[in-house]
Amino acid sequence: MTNKLKLIGPITQLLTLDHLPVKGALKDEQLEIIEQAGILIEGDKVLKAGAWSPLKAEFPNAELFELEGEFVAIPGLVDCHTHICFGGSRAKDFSMRIAGKSYLEIAQSGGGIWDTVTQTRKLDLDELSAVTVKNANRHLSEGVTTIEVKSGYGLSVEEELKMLRAIKKAQESTGADLISTCLAAHMKPRDFDGSNSEYLELISSQLYPVLREENLTSRIDAFVEKSAFSPEEITPFFEEAKAWGFELTVHADQFTTGGSGVAVNLGAKSADHLEASGENEISILAQSNTIAVALPGASIGLGCAFTPARKILDQGGALAIASDWNPGSAPMGDLIAQASILATFEKLSTAEVLAGITFRAASALGLNDRGKIKEGLLADLVLFPAADYREILYHQGKLKPAMVWKAGKKVG
Ligand code: NIG
Ligand code: FE
Repeated sequence: MTNKLKLIGPITQLLTLDHLPVKGALKDEQLEIIEQAGILIEGDKVLKAGAWSPLKAEFPNAELFELEGEFVAIPGLVDCHTHICFGGSRAKDFSMRIAGKSYLEIAQSGGGIWDTVTQTRKLDLDELSAVTVKNANRHLSEGVTTIEVKSGYGLSVEEELKMLRAIKKAQESTGADLISTCLAAHMKPRDFDGSNSEYLELISSQLYPVLREENLTSRIDAFVEKSAFSPEEITPFFEEAKAWGFELTVHADQFTTGGSGVAVNLGAKSADHLEASGENEISILAQSNTIAVALPGASIGLGCAFTPARKILDQGGALAIASDWNPGSAPMGDLIAQASILATFEKLSTAEVLAGITFRAASALGLNDRGKIKEGLLADLVLFPAADYREILYHQGKLKPAMVWKAGKKVG
C-alpha cells in the first residue's frame, strides 16, 4: 500500500539548503530559496519541494495542509552535542562562577561534573528517562528534530549502562530522534581506585561488549583535557573502540590543545569545543574530514572564548554548531540563540549558521538522510512565522517555530 501524500504550503520562503557543500565558507547568495513554495511528503520523506500552485495542481489527491500567513521553512534542526540526560541542578556553580570563583574553588565546594554524577546516580532509569524526554521535547518544540544525547554522568559500568538504557527508553516518548553517545570517559570517577588508564581499560573491557549486545550506542566520546584524559591515555581506548566498530567523537581543545590532533589522527566524526585551538590545530582540522563543532553555549555559560569558527571555515573546514546543553557549563539549551550569538562574534553568514545546525551537524553524526529539504530525505521541517529567512537569527532565539514536522508527521 502506498502512503497517502501530504502537501504543505504556500510557504513564503523555503530554504532547501540543497547544493551546499559540507566543507568551507558559504555566502547567503548560495542559498536556494523557493518563493511561494510547497513541500510534498510521502510517508516519512520529502517527495518534492517546489512552487506551490503547480504542486497543488499536479497532486489533487494529496492531503492538504494549507497555510494562512507568512512562513519561512528550513530543515529540522540537528543538535549534534548535548548532555540532556542528567540529575539535579548546578545553579550553585553558576552563581559562584558569575561572582568570579575559579574552576578549582567551585570543585572544592562540591560543584563540577562530579556533583552531577552524584545527583544522576540518585535517579533510577525511569526518572532519568523522564528528564531526557522533557528536555528533548522542549528542544523539539524549538525546531530541533534530531538530538545527540551523551551519557557521562554515570562513570561506572552499571551507572553508564543505566544512562544509556534511559536514553534508549526516552526514544519511546519523544518525537525527536535521539542519537546516543557513550561518554564514560568524561573523567576518572572519584570513587575509582586506580589510574586513568586502568579506568579506561575497565570501560572498554566491560562496557563495550554490553553496548554492542544491547545496541545502546554506536558512538564513543571522551574528554581529552588536563583535568580528564591525556592524548596518550585516550589513544589506546579509542583504538579499542574502533576495533569494536564504534564511531568516535572527541571533547577537544576546550581549555588546552591535544584533543583535536587525536580526533583527526583516529578519523573521528567530530572534534567538539575547540575554544583553545590555535593556527596549527585549525589547519589540521580544516584539512581533515572530521567535523569541527562549535559549542557557543559553553562559551556563554563559562564566560570563555568562542570557537574560532571563522578561521575554520575560511581554511575550508566543516563547521557544525551545537548547544552542549548540560547542567554545568551550558545550561541554556537554546540552539538558535547560541548560534546567532556565535555568529555576531565570529562573523558568520546566515548560510553558514543554518548549515551548521542542519546538514553539517547531521554529518557530524554520520547521518546523510536529513538536514536538507530535498527528495528522498526525511521530511523534518521547521516553519517560522516570518516572511524573510533572515528573521530567524535576527531575533536571537526569540522567534519560535509556528510548526514542526518530524519524519512526515506534524509534531508541533
Ligand atoms: O561539554 N567539557 C566537558 N564536559 C561538558 C561539561 C559537563 C559539565 O560541566 O557537567 C561540556 O562542556
Ligand atoms: Fe559537552
